[in-house]
Parts: sequence; C-alpha cells; structure tokens
Amino acid sequence: LYVDRIKEGDIVILMDDEGRKLRVRAEKVTKKVKGLGVANLGKLLEASFGDRVTVAAKEFTVLRPSIVDSIETMERRAQIIVPKDAAYILLHCDIGSGSLVVEAGSGSGALTTVLAWAVAPNGKVVSYDNREEHQAVARRNIERAGLSGLVEWKMGDLTEGIVETGVDAFVLDIGNPWDGVDTAAKALRKGGHLATFSPTANQVETTVKAMRERGFVGIQASELIHREMVVIDGGIRPSFDMRGHSGYICIARWLG
Ligand SMILES: C[S@@+](CC[C@H](N)C(=O)[O-])C[C@H]1O[C@@H](n2cnc3c(N)ncnc32)[C@H](O)[C@@H]1O
Repeated sequence: LYVDRIKEGDIVILMDDEGRKLRVRAEKVTKKVKGLGVANLGKLLEASFGDRVTVAAKEFTVLRPSIVDSIETMERRAQIIVPKDAAYILLHCDIGSGSLVVEAGSGSGALTTVLAWAVAPNGKVVSYDNREEHQAVARRNIERAGLSGLVEWKMGDLTEGIVETGVDAFVLDIGNPWDGVDTAAKALRKGGHLATFSPTANQVETTVKAMRERGFVGIQASELIHREMVVIDGGIRPSFDMRGHSGYICIARWLG
C-alpha cells in the first residue's frame, strides 16, 4: 500500500467539511494562522496526505495541493487569471511539455503556475513584470507550488522588446496588450501563438486591430462563462455566487 507521508516543509491544503481550503506549511511550530487561529502545525508531520487531522480544534482532510488548489489559495496582489481562462489559453496556444512560453506580467503568478506545470519537465516559462513588488509575490507563489525550476524571472517593460526568440507561445496579461503585439511577433517562432487577456471590450478592439495590422492570422476573441451548479437531491440549480466576469481572451497565430 502506497503511503504519502507529509514531510517537514511540505505545503499542504487543509480542506474542511464544507470544502473550504487553507494552505499551510507543515513544520514543527505552533503559530497563528490566518483563518485558523493558533495552530500546532507539527501535528501534520505525524499524518499522510489524505488523512483526517484535527488542527486548532477543527477537523480537516489534508491534501497535497493540486494546481487549482495552488491558485485558489495563493497570495494575491495583482488580479489573477482564473482556471477556466488559463485552461483555454493552454489549449488554444498549443502549450505542453517542452514548450518555451513568454508571459507578461507575472502579477501574482497564477497563470505562471499553470504555464510552468504544463511545460514541465523540459520546457520553460520566461515571466516579465515591470513592478518588483508584484513579481516578488509571483515568485513566492511559484516556490510554494514547487515549480521554481521551470520559470525564469525578468524585470522590465516587455513592450520595449525582449531578447527571447523561437518562442512557442506568448501571453500578454497587461493593461495595454496592443503595445506588446510587435514584441510578440519578433519573439515567436513561425506557427507560434499569441494570447491576450483583458477585462474590457475596448481593450479587445485595440488589441485585435494591432494583431491584424502586424500580420497575425486566425484571430479569435472569446469570453468564457463558467456556471457552478449546486447539487442537492431534487434541487439542482446554478450557484447564486457565480463569478459575473473575468475577462476576454484573444488568440492569434504568427506565421512570420
Ligand atoms: C493583471 S496582472 C497579471 C496577473 C497574472 N497573469 C496572474 O495570473 O497572476 C498584470 C501585471 O502586468 C504587469 N505589467 C503591466 N504592464 C507591463 C509591461 N509593459 N511589461 C511588463 N509587465 C507589465 C503589472 O505590473 C502587473 O503585475
């Protein structure tokens, strides 16, 4: 029987019976944890992933973080790209194991987490941001997700040009993605993909115009709606707490 013991320093998810999740580090220490109170985290070192444990007088199931758990419980500074949008970007940009991906900005590192997970073990994500305090948050989140070896961090304004070439996919989640379209065209390999993420439709209009003018092809703009269902006997309905809006995604292809 395979037993997945929790080790000192492991990041673990504590899930309560309502499905709420908290992220903590397993270590021999008693300290105040946000959302939990004073907790003896050393108790986790006596458990295995999947076990039930009592921490701070509350029962939890201990989980090894999935990629979605990492995103849902991550430290946030800049607005993140949520899983439904990240998954769409991955597939439509053909990102997979071994891909070379460039993104801006790093923000809180939510998309970086998904990209790094997808390109492992031999690919690479080069992540640009022009604000050190944002990239510092992204770095911490990627370290906690155990993905540091797959990401190269760069500080600077990506719209001024970058050194990377032969890039498989390029993702722009910045306020002015149209200003990054030329940088993307110069960095992408023939057949590579560009994705942009923008909260407003005005940004989409300017971005698609810039993509067309620069010679990108197969341009598509989309919005994805995700409705979570509440499932109870005889009363299945969409959740009242649906996320109304995240942003628009534009995908385009570079043929050189
Ligand atoms: C909305 S956040 C990105 C969130 C990130 N995709 C995530 O999922 O966590 C936008 C980030 O882009 C950075 N940024 C804005 N303009 C930039 C530029 N021209 N070059 C590099 N980074 C830029 C900002 O500092 C900010 O951290």
